[in-house]
Amino acid sequence: MKGLITAGGRGTRLRPITHTKNKHLIPIAGKPMIVYAIEALKDAGITDIGITYNHDLDSLVNTLGDGKKFGVSITYIHQPSPIGLADCVRVAKEFIKDDSFVFFLGDNMVAGGISNFVQEFKKSKANFLLLLAQVPDPQRFGVPVFDKKGNLIGVEEKPQKPKSNMAVTGIYIYDKNVFKAFEGIDAIKPSSRGELEISDVHQYLIDHGFIVKTVNATGWWKDTGQGRDLLLANRLILEKHIDFKISKTSFISEDSDIQGEISLGNNSKIINSTLRGPIYIGENTVIENSYIGPFTSIENNNIILNSEIEHSIVFNDSKIFDIENRIDNSIIANNVMVKKRVNKPKVLNLMLGDHSSIEI
Ligand code: DAU
Repeated sequence: MKGLITAGGRGTRLRPITHTKNKHLIPIAGKPMIVYAIEALKDAGITDIGITYNHDLDSLVNTLGDGKKFGVSITYIHQPSPIGLADCVRVAKEFIKDDSFVFFLGDNMVAGGISNFVQEFKKSKANFLLLLAQVPDPQRFGVPVFDKKGNLIGVEEKPQKPKSNMAVTGIYIYDKNVFKAFEGIDAIKPSSRGELEISDVHQYLIDHGFIVKTVNATGWWKDTGQGRDLLLANRLILEKHIDFKISKTSFISEDSDIQGEISLGNNSKIINSTLRGPIYIGENTVIENSYIGPFTSIENNNIILNSEIEHSIVFNDSKIFDIENRIDNSIIANNVMVKKRVNKPKVLNLMLGDHSSIEI
């Protein structure tokens, strides 16, 4: 069995961060988001993995390489433009060949991995298998439609009036028959929003008599399409899914107060500060005279001085100086400067990129 992960798309809902960064490389508790998908496949015994991308191959290759460091082999597959998830499957035909495969959307995260899901598929005689999850807002997702006997008879993509509170998650398993959805006169066509929808592939397979099985996710599942989802995924990972380690080359001053679990990377320093975990702090980061609260991930080479921050993600190379209000529920990308204005007049002095969002 192979794996196929998406790393393309437009990332419009995560602007301005995605103006300069592929959303799948956004760090969550010390790892780029897509690495959680790679690890889930590896843990399920799948090591031959294709990754579809649109334009920024270099940043993916710089971060993931050929996959060896994760114990897998990665093949990069070009999708000329982001015209839909079904197109990601279509362009991967040569890589997949006659194998069955897990199709894993690179912005999805799931607790407890996918081994059970893969086992279910192998045990069943199904041609494809969908992982479902209960959600409060099914209109944001593909929604399964069942008949009175509980058989899956359809999948509706982002319906205004969802027929259930279940979502088809972005984790699917197919056998080679999935490619039939792109052949012949009844091949799937672009939807009203101009995309080749993965839900239309599922509808095609159901309508053509292929056997479908569904499995309900037992733990949490997250699609990290929006900022608040990223923060929630960060919280869920920090709550249960990381090994907290304090590097021997890090430093915590005696006048600091550390509560709960924290991870501290090489050469990072905590000076006269209160940290209330769970918290992830990467390498070469200095926290001085500050408070860092629960569910915060701060990556590498940052300086936080005389400030308070919680339930947030800070990427790399940023500086936060002398901020009186606690920073909460925030995402701060690379090379950002947030500091108190000392000169008069006492004004807000802003330089915000396109699609920035601040609440003051
Ligand atoms: O997350 C689950 C949902 O994912 C399903 O419930 C929906 O049925 C499915 O259509 C999909 O909906 P989204 O609107 O969340 O998909 P999105 O456009 O965000 O794309 C998901 C991933 O695929 C993300 O990693 C970006 C990537 N992508 C997307 C498109 C459209 C590509 O690599 N190429 C593409 O052409």
